[in-house]
Amino acid sequence: MLGKIIRNTKIIDGHFLLAVKLPQSFQTPMPGQFVMVREKGRLDPLLGRPFSVYTFARMENAVIVEILYKVVGKETSILSMLKRGVLLEIYGSYGSAFNITTNTKKVVLICGGIGIAPLTFLASHYWGLATGDIDVICYLGATGAAKLVGVARMEELCQGVFISTDDGSMGYHGTVTDLFARDVTSYDSSNASIYACGPRPMLKKLSEMLSMCALPCQVSLEERMACGVGACLGCSIETYDREGKSTYRRVCKDGPVFDIHDIIWK
Ligand SMILES: Cc1cc2nc3c(=O)[nH]c(=O)nc-3n(C[C@H](O)[C@H](O)[C@H](O)COP(=O)(O)OP(=O)(O)OC[C@H]3O[C@@H](n4cnc5c(N)ncnc54)[C@H](O)[C@@H]3O)c2cc1C
Ligand code: FES
Repeated sequence: MLGKIIRNTKIIDGHFLLAVKLPQSFQTPMPGQFVMVREKGRLDPLLGRPFSVYTFARMENAVIVEILYKVVGKETSILSMLKRGVLLEIYGSYGSAFNITTNTKKVVLICGGIGIAPLTFLASHYWGLATGDIDVICYLGATGAAKLVGVARMEELCQGVFISTDDGSMGYHGTVTDLFARDVTSYDSSNASIYACGPRPMLKKLSEMLSMCALPCQVSLEERMACGVGACLGCSIETYDREGKSTYRRVCKDGPVFDIHDIIWK
């Protein structure tokens, strides 16, 4: 489907917020789902790239999708140079969504870097539930203060936002998993749901921590993808099946959201 860029703004160094206007028929995404994006007509790179939905708004005659992205390579560099009015091919929404539960007292979001994008969309869904009974708490980590992105929006949506930086330039000095480890015993499986997105080493460490306290946790994985629709197996990861045996699942089709305890972390 074709969408038109209405904004593509640099937020902090190497991070942009892209707003795209799409036809009404664009399927409403759920938090955790992703879209495949590429510039219309561009042949290099040939394949689109996956991005989480950061915000979504349905208007009378169109929808607006916002994507928060970090420049890491070819496609994201190209995207960062595109101006208002440029056409993008956007396909989706793809993949599994986070399971949203109202049967909880605390929702805990653990975000590493650009992993904040899908979790902000999730926070906005909990905000929209407006039950008043659920506290949304966010732990947000970055390498340094200058790399923190999306904090203000999270502060609007959450009852508490706790920040960590690897270099100690803001908030807790250390990783976001170490910051969360200080509080982990204050949450239990009867009243807390954990959601996480970030770099693999962060999620692996979180998995090790949570295996000792049996807290439920859904993670969104940001593996490299090719086709994005389940055809090439390029995004396969090793997981446990129901009997505890190893099995491969595709992040684009079976995920990107998984139970953290189902993944065999390497
Ligand atoms: C479900 C999903 C949701 C995502 N959501 C977002 C989002 O909201 N915002 C955002 O900024 N990014 C997101 N990503 C990651 C994004 O897709 C990649 O950053 C992007 O594909 C890089 O494309 P590129 O052409 O710029 O980089 P390339 O030129 O293809 O690669 C440049 C470098 O980055 C590495 N790289 C590329 N993709 C990944 C990846 N997925 N994981 C780790 N390393 C990678 C490559 O190995 C290479 O070293 C998401 C990924 C997935 C699977
Ligand atoms: S990217 Fe092709 S199967 Fe997932």
